[in-house]
Amino acid sequence: MKIDKITPNIGAEIKGIDINKKITKEMYEKIYKALIDNLVIFIKKSNISIEKHLQLAKLFGELDEPHKLYPNVEGFKNIVLLENNKKNPPDTNSWHTDLTFKMNRPFASILVARKVPNIGGDTLWSNCYSAYDRLPKGMKYYLKDINVIHDFGDFRNSFAKNFNNKSGIQRLNENISKFGHNIMPLIGKHPITGKKFLNFNEAFSNHIVGLTSNNSNSLKTFLSNHMNKPEDQVRWKWSEGDLAMWDNRVTMHYAVSDYLPNYRCMHRITIIKDKKELQS
Ligand code: SIN
Repeated sequence: MKIDKITPNIGAEIKGIDINKKITKEMYEKIYKALIDNLVIFIKKSNISIEKHLQLAKLFGELDEPHKLYPNVEGFKNIVLLENNKKNPPDTNSWHTDLTFKMNRPFASILVARKVPNIGGDTLWSNCYSAYDRLPKGMKYYLKDINVIHDFGDFRNSFAKNFNNKSGIQRLNENISKFGHNIMPLIGKHPITGKKFLNFNEAFSNHIVGLTSNNSNSLKTFLSNHMNKPEDQVRWKWSEGDLAMWDNRVTMHYAVSDYLPNYRCMHRITIIKDKKELQS
């Protein structure tokens, strides 16, 4: 197995592995290390089967519960089906970290491309350690004790589409409580590396605790702009069967929505309770 970095800062490709075969303990250790070192890892044309996708995820932790908004792959309640075209445009084209509003937020996600457009539909990931490191010293000091409320943020849009019909309003209200909130420090500390990172993503980090909405919005805009820097990012052009796995604690991602009216289909598993973290 060979690990080739894609950028100095984030992203590596794993080569020389058949992910459909049995993953030994030694291989698991190498994959986990590659993930921690590079934040997002890719296997080109992995052609992983649906069953193996599930098995791979279970090696690293527990499968997350079924998604509250997105459909699942038929017969596989823990695999999210991200299927988009002109009739069903994607809503993952904003910088986000998967499901940070959940109390038990996923520590990793594994995404597999099942059908991709000929051009377009790339995904970008960004390094949240670097975003923290680049902050001016005074700003690091100011932010060190600040907490942020995460909620279902951009997902509101999906429920609000039918706002002028009663069931749309009802669904929105029901889901506000179903999705819930999470409050977390703005400066996170990675449980494995001990390194600090900016624990913020513009899709779900909704309010800075202790500030008025006006001041919170100003700080959120500063952070969103600060965190959107090409030097911190890797961009992946998908082929069918490609697999990406990311450390969802210290990355954000953005799925570029430039391929409509064409069809794109991805399968995603989110994983909670990092086994390594529980052992450490
Ligand atoms: C996601 O936002 O988790 C999916 C990214 C993608 O579809 O490329």
